[in-house]
Amino acid sequence: MHLAVLGASGHGKVVADAAELLGWGSVTFFDDAWPTLKNNGPWAVDGDTTWLLDRITDFDGVIVAIGSNHIRAEKQKHLGDAGAKLATIVHPSAVISSHASLGEGVVVFGNAVVNACAVVGAGAIVNTGAVIEHDCIVGEFAHVSPNAALAGGVNLGREAWVGACASVRQLLTVGTGAVVGMGSVVTRNVPPGATVMGNPAKTLSP
Ligand SMILES: CC(C)(COP(=O)(O)OP(=O)(O)OC[C@H]1O[C@@H](n2cnc3c(N)ncnc32)[C@H](O)[C@@H]1OP(=O)(O)O)[C@@H](O)C(=O)NCCC(=O)NCCS
Repeated sequence: MHLAVLGASGHGKVVADAAELLGWGSVTFFDDAWPTLKNNGPWAVDGDTTWLLDRITDFDGVIVAIGSNHIRAEKQKHLGDAGAKLATIVHPSAVISSHASLGEGVVVFGNAVVNACAVVGAGAIVNTGAVIEHDCIVGEFAHVSPNAALAGGVNLGREAWVGACASVRQLLTVGTGAVVGMGSVVTRNVPPGATVMGNPAKTLSP
């Protein structure tokens, strides 16, 4: 089984590592910095997006490992439209309720938890140790960073980013494209596109 990973990033290394633990026989990176960039740690970078698109059917799975939520969304759409078999990578130590659902292109890293009736949209990242409680909706191409926690019933918008170790009170909405700073404690809804931080989280002044 051959996995192609688009995005030779640090995040990509964690995706590749999880894929190997899951039994993918080979992991090959692609990045638009190729041919200048030839390696991503122990893994080879074999081409750019164009190269990958030309050979898309050579791979049993393809995943985008780009930290920017918006660029990841664009690249995943491009690959999907070209006929890529989009993979979902769940680290073996993650705990996923059988009553939760994960969209295509989702990654869930080690020790993360996705509890009952949570819905994780396409291309979202549930990073190391993150907790997605029951009934949460994680929007497409959102990112829940390491050790962040969404309490029950939180609605996280498309392409929103919750920073490391932040926590969001139950039943709140974090709007599309919003950013929650690392370590924040979110006690009120966050408007689309806003950046909030601190305890209690306040909007970052422009
Ligand atoms: C919130 C965040 C996006 C702001 O980034 P930024 O717009 O570049 O802001 P700056 O670093 O210029 O900081 C602006 C001010 O906010 C403060 N600040 C930044 N992040 C903060 C946070 N999470 N909590 C409290 N204050 C914070 C800074 O100290 C600075 O204060 P000052 O003006 O008094 O010096 C960023 O700090 C953050 O938390 N990113 C998430 C990182 C993360 O979780 N990464 C995990 C990747 S897997």
